[in-house]
Amino acid sequence: MADQPIINILGELVALGPLDRKLVPTSQRWMNQFDMLRTLGNLPQPMTLEAETDWFEAAARSTTETTFTIYERSSWRPIGTLDLRAIDYRNRSAEFGITIGEADCRGKGYGTEATRLALDYAFIALGLHSVMLAVFAYNPGALRAYEKAGFREIGRRRESKWMGGRLWDIIYMDCLATEFTSPVLAKVFAPDEPR
Ligand SMILES: CC(C)(COP(=O)(O)OP(=O)(O)OC[C@H]1O[C@@H](n2cnc3c(N)ncnc32)[C@H](O)[C@@H]1OP(=O)(O)O)[C@@H](O)C(=O)NCCC(=O)NCCS
Repeated sequence: MADQPIINILGELVALGPLDRKLVPTSQRWMNQFDMLRTLGNLPQPMTLEAETDWFEAAARSTTETTFTIYERSSWRPIGTLDLRAIDYRNRSAEFGITIGEADCRGKGYGTEATRLALDYAFIALGLHSVMLAVFAYNPGALRAYEKAGFREIGRRRESKWMGGRLWDIIYMDCLATEFTSPVLAKVFAPDEPR
């Protein structure tokens, strides 16, 4: 098993930690899987190390976006990334995105828990109120994971995503702080007990 990386939020199956420059070649490998890019907003095109490094440099320093590395707890293997983007502190809102790059780590409950941990971070650590996401209608696994994590559908942009020779709906989902029970961070962001 690899050494434990730096971790911010420890779940049961997965843990979230900071981006790590050493993992740029790993995320480049993830971002060259066309079957995965199919489900993301990115154009399906070859991802060079240079372009992946540019993404890393921007994400690692962004003040409007927070990106975490997702680790599998049983092995401490990096398995993907997730992010809160368009973070708006005045209106207490943000948008969410997730990629489990290691194909053998999908369908094991990791995405559901990682999404919950991201909501925990948004609501408890950052004090946000509304987190929204967009998902393509042909991605039932993502829809199911998001529902299990606490999101619900709020609307659709019809026939606005081209894939597999036809247009599909983009589904919008949101979750409010008032609908969410903190799995981890409410115990961390708590006042010290007087001695
Ligand atoms: C989407 C993603 C984050 C979900 O994470 P995950 O770890 O695979 O999901 P989980 O195992 O937590 O949950 C998936 C659920 O969907 C279900 N599911 C998976 N494929 C399905 C399908 N084709 N039809 C219906 N349900 C499906 C699973 O059975 C599971 O539900 P259950 O626990 O009720 O059985 C992950 O698969 C991923 O990163 N995929 C590639 C990139 C991507 O699609 N990102 C999201 C873009 S919006």
